[in-house]
Amino acid sequence: MRASDAAVYRSPASGEALSLDIHESAGDDVIGGELRTAGGERYPIVDGIPDLTYPPDLAGEDATARTVYDSVASVYDEYLPLTFQTFGCDEGQTRELMVERLRLVPGQRVLEVGAGTGRTSAVIAAKLRDRGHIYVHDISRGILQKAVERLSREAVPLSFLISNGIYLPFADDSFDAVFHFGGLNMFSDIRRGLSEMARVVRPGGRVVVGDESVPPWLRETNFGKVLIATSSHYGARLPLEEMPVAAREVAIEYILGGAFYLISFTVGEGEPAANFDLPIPGVRGGTHRTRAHGQLEGVTLEAKRLAQRAREKRGISMHAWLDEAVREAARRDLEE
Ligand SMILES: C[S@@+](CC[C@H](N)C(=O)[O-])C[C@H]1O[C@@H](n2cnc3c(N)ncnc32)[C@H](O)[C@@H]1O
Repeated sequence: MRASDAAVYRSPASGEALSLDIHESAGDDVIGGELRTAGGERYPIVDGIPDLTYPPDLAGEDATARTVYDSVASVYDEYLPLTFQTFGCDEGQTRELMVERLRLVPGQRVLEVGAGTGRTSAVIAAKLRDRGHIYVHDISRGILQKAVERLSREAVPLSFLISNGIYLPFADDSFDAVFHFGGLNMFSDIRRGLSEMARVVRPGGRVVVGDESVPPWLRETNFGKVLIATSSHYGARLPLEEMPVAAREVAIEYILGGAFYLISFTVGEGEPAANFDLPIPGVRGGTHRTRAHGQLEGVTLEAKRLAQRAREKRGISMHAWLDEAVREAARRDLEE
């Protein structure tokens, strides 16, 4: 870990800044030590990689992911091509397509969550050339160690870190782009995972995420049944309910044989903007706002019929007639 990264990382629990305690170093690289908050949280740096995992007792799914990927780290790269071969897809082209959705330009700061052995990080590095910075992240030390080996000769500055994807140890707006592929179905809290990815990207930056999901129209086909029987992850639904409110320009694609989704979006601020005060022409009249927030109470059928006839006679919208009638009656009773 570079000593300068201590200023970039934050407590995944509280968001507090961290101070660096170096036990062993080589030049600017910290090999062993600790990151600490003023409040007493402690995160170890072992073999040059900080471990910012939170919570210390991981939820079941996150703990399982760590154990599984620690144990398959040595064979992951050997077995992974099988997925691409199954669907007759070129891995390089598929990862290129995914990274294209990040719209990267050299000089940008990028976080890859759950990067595994760094197969997409290498594609991201090629896009940034020698300018920018990639934070290569995973929950499993075993698999991240493989990424360190793969990426050791990349020209762009790289930082490797361990953390839980649902508690990212970075301040808001830290990155131009965040990428994640292949682990989201395993996250214990997918909504939190997506919200964290959007939180650490600046407004206008990009988030791209993907994982297995046989689309609804293929679930009852032989294609769908075989895949879902092989791995329950193929039965996962698209995480649309879990998407952050700040997601804009959302695009959904099915890639890798049509058995994986890819969701890409631009990060906005809060809810989308809309002018809810434009008058709506027609018999009902009013605006989006009056229709959503201006409702009072139901009336008798007789009162309704009278109101409809009176509105028609006046040649105005029901909104305009009602608004006037209610105001007049209310002012009279209030004697204003
Ligand atoms: C199928 S692998 C994909 C690796 C890599 N993205 C790729 O495309 O080859 C899933 C990765 O997600 C990571 N992962 C799973 N759950 C995680 C979590 N809660 N936080 C961070 N990483 C997680 C795993 O450790 C693993 O490296």
